[in-house]
Amino acid sequence: MKLFTTFAVLIVAVALSLGTSSLSFDASAQDTKKPQDTYTLATEAKLGQVTFSHINHTTKNRNLEGTGPSSCIECHHTAQPAAEAAKHPPLKTAWPADRTTTLTAELLASDPNAVGAVCRDCHARAEAKPKLLPENPQIKFAVGTELVTLTNQQAYHRNCAGCHDEIVKTRTDVTPPTSKKCTACHKRTTT
Ligand code: HEC
Ligand code: HEC
Ligand code: HEC
Ligand code: HEC
Repeated sequence: MKLFTTFAVLIVAVALSLGTSSLSFDASAQDTKKPQDTYTLATEAKLGQVTFSHINHTTKNRNLEGTGPSSCIECHHTAQPAAEAAKHPPLKTAWPADRTTTLTAELLASDPNAVGAVCRDCHARAEAKPKLLPENPQIKFAVGTELVTLTNQQAYHRNCAGCHDEIVKTRTDVTPPTSKKCTACHKRTTT
């Protein structure tokens, strides 16, 4: 997710200080599996749910540079050692905190728990408490700006639409749904 560093001119000030001692590994989060080809996200959004093709994002030419698929940690940012995450501020958190591995398809094949945790475990809906953290992470993206609480909405919009917004500036071969195009992602079901 290094693209966020460039486009948001980030100075780090993560308000939530995550002491490693408070991050004990939750056994229920270990129950991970192979990714589905498609996930239905935002099932509680008034605008409608979002169909996310995991397989397209991990096999087609979808990275910022246009050189190949997105790497796993562009989205699963806690699935790498903390020292690696910290190279891309404001990131610094790893899950589990003492992990030494970086998520790849190969790693997942040998370690079914390699993802560690999914987004909503840590980025809950507004007013809700995430499963794995005492509260939703709060972050300051630039000096003098407000603290942003990384709810599910903030986390997904910044990660997903953030990449799409950057990509349309540099690539003409793809047309990802940009952040303003709400209903290109959110679709109301007719049923
Ligand atoms: C573009 C963003 C993105 C990329 C890139 C990505 N993932 Fe995912 N992945 C997701 C989302 C979103 C989910 C669904 C999480 C949920 O259930 O809320 C998911 C789910 C998963 C799950 C299921 C986890 C569980 O507990 O249900 C696995 C396993 C996984 N991804 C592995 C990978 C691997 C391996 C790679 C790299 C080859 C990768 N992902 C790349 C966004 C991404
Ligand atoms: C284990 C908890 C955890 C999981 C799982 C997690 N996050 Fe985060 N996320 C955080 C924390 C904590 C921060 C604040 C920065 C830090 O400490 O690394 C953060 C920061 C972010 C940011 C802001 C930083 C930036 O680079 O712009 C985005 C966007 C984000 N997460 C999206 C996601 C998405 C999308 C997923 C799932 C694919 C996800 N997160 C999974 C805990 C988590
Ligand atoms: C690293 C960059 C990147 C990230 C991160 C990313 N996307 Fe995309 N996404 C793309 C690109 C590139 C396309 C355009 C493909 C095309 O036009 O052929 C795309 C297309 C899409 C589409 C159109 C349908 C399709 O799959 O072709 C949807 C919906 C979408 N993305 C949702 C998401 C969601 C939801 C997330 C976050 C969980 C996400 N994307 C994260 C790069 C990204
Ligand atoms: C790139 C795809 C994408 C675009 C574009 C997008 N969203 Fe979202 N939105 C998502 C995803 C993914 C989630 C969170 C999914 C989850 O928690 O499962 C989300 C979450 C939300 C939520 C929170 C839903 C809840 O859980 O309460 C709201 C509200 C929302 N979006 C509104 C908007 C609006 C308004 C726009 C346009 C300005 C927009 N979205 C554009 C993908 C998108």
